[in-house]
Amino acid sequence: MAESTAEEKRRLSFESHIEEYIDKNQDILDDNTNPPNRKGMRRYGRYKINSIPTKLNSKLKQSLNLCSRTKYDLTDVRDGFALGVVKDAHDIEASLSRNFSFFDLQDPQLSIIKEIIEHIKLDIIDFLKVNFKIMNVRAYETSPSCEAGAGPNSPHSDGGFFDGTHKILLYVNGADDNHGTTVVFIEKTGNVISGPPGTYLLFNPKTTRHQGIIPKKHKKILVEITLYPWEDLIIEPICGGVNGIFPLEA
Ligand SMILES: [Fe+2]
Repeated sequence: MAESTAEEKRRLSFESHIEEYIDKNQDILDDNTNPPNRKGMRRYGRYKINSIPTKLNSKLKQSLNLCSRTKYDLTDVRDGFALGVVKDAHDIEASLSRNFSFFDLQDPQLSIIKEIIEHIKLDIIDFLKVNFKIMNVRAYETSPSCEAGAGPNSPHSDGGFFDGTHKILLYVNGADDNHGTTVVFIEKTGNVISGPPGTYLLFNPKTTRHQGIIPKKHKKILVEITLYPWEDLIIEPICGGVNGIFPLEA
């Protein structure tokens, strides 16, 4: 089907920018998508765990408490953003709506998230070996009653992103059995992320298989920051809506 909509033009413009970037920075992207092990063999998956200061995490938590909630809605995509889930996937929409409560992030939350990114930017650059651009921010809550395997809680690799895309998962209530967490699979080994409130995981969700773990006792609050290696450092957080995953314009 020939598409000549404004959205398609933006997507093509973004893709050509990304392709140009990939051509220029192939070495960095190779390291970020498929890093070598100690013997120089390429293997898939690597990640980093760290945490933000307690005060900053508490400030974020307070602000999220004041935030209104929204159900997963396939049409909730900011203009100019790529869709995460295809338009007619109503069964996925129903499952995500039943099992996850999304925060309707507004300026007060985004400004604290920007403060957090400012605080951890050198840690991210140290991992990526290059600057980065924030592509999207979302936040959602999972309760202990979440259905097994719903949405991101079954083992998966993220689709729909460009190579080199990374995510930060920030565990506002901490990462453990009671508050929920994530397992990242490095080769065949599942590594369970654990840490106090404010712990974050930085990883490539395309090449690192992973699985959300439902909390046993308390609510799991996750802030998900999507970023991409970039020439300049662009840390302005933007939220593309619950079904938006990255902006179509570079
Ligand atoms: Fe994922």
